[in-house]
Amino acid sequence: MNTTKERKFKPEKLFEPRDFKRPEIQDKQYLEIGAGKGMHAMQFAEANPSKHLIAIERTRAKFDVFSERSRELALNNLLPVHADAIPWVVHALPPESLEGVFLLYPNPEPKNSSQRWLNMPFFEFLISRMKPNATLVLVTNIVDYFKETTEVNRDVWKLKAEESEVPKDSARTHFEIKYLARGENCYQLLLTKPHNYKTSFDEWAI
Ligand SMILES: C[S@@+](CC[C@H](N)C(=O)[O-])C[C@H]1O[C@@H](n2cnc3c(N)ncnc32)[C@H](O)[C@@H]1O
Repeated sequence: MNTTKERKFKPEKLFEPRDFKRPEIQDKQYLEIGAGKGMHAMQFAEANPSKHLIAIERTRAKFDVFSERSRELALNNLLPVHADAIPWVVHALPPESLEGVFLLYPNPEPKNSSQRWLNMPFFEFLISRMKPNATLVLVTNIVDYFKETTEVNRDVWKLKAEESEVPKDSARTHFEIKYLARGENCYQLLLTKPHNYKTSFDEWAI
């Protein structure tokens, strides 16, 4: 898995996303990537009024549903963003700005291992945006993906890891509800960024 680190991420090559607006980063700032129709994002924001969540979704049709519902809820601690998360994170987030990251049911392309979040050189940049002790939650129903992700973390990124099975009555996202209703097992990896963790992007900011 050395190749993940050898293929260096080049943030300077990424253009600012279209219609980009720089967000105000809050003290207790969380980020969700691939928010779908926003079920988890809206529940999280409602349940945690003192925390702020930026939730990014790339697919226009899903984002439109999310955006409409969140406007109705008028949650002032939730910012839905329609963008590809990779250039958006590069342009929007300073180092050590996040308390937590959610990657919920990312469903990677089975044949393209380089599209999986922990296999991407971008993952090092994402870690650099997390504060010390910040957490990253990744959940999936694909056991091989879960195992691979756990191994890549152990061998390459070396964040503190806790593995668990998602409780059968959990209902955080549309995909989670669908998989658990089908009787599938879902798996959660909770990663924590250790204090004194170094990345190549710790000084990198736009
Ligand atoms: C399988 S869906 C899961 C949606 C939601 N998290 C759920 O569990 O119901 C994965 C979502 O991630 C989004 N996505 C994938 N890569 C993304 C990226 N680079 N930036 C933003 N969204 C992305 C896709 O558009 C898709 O809606």
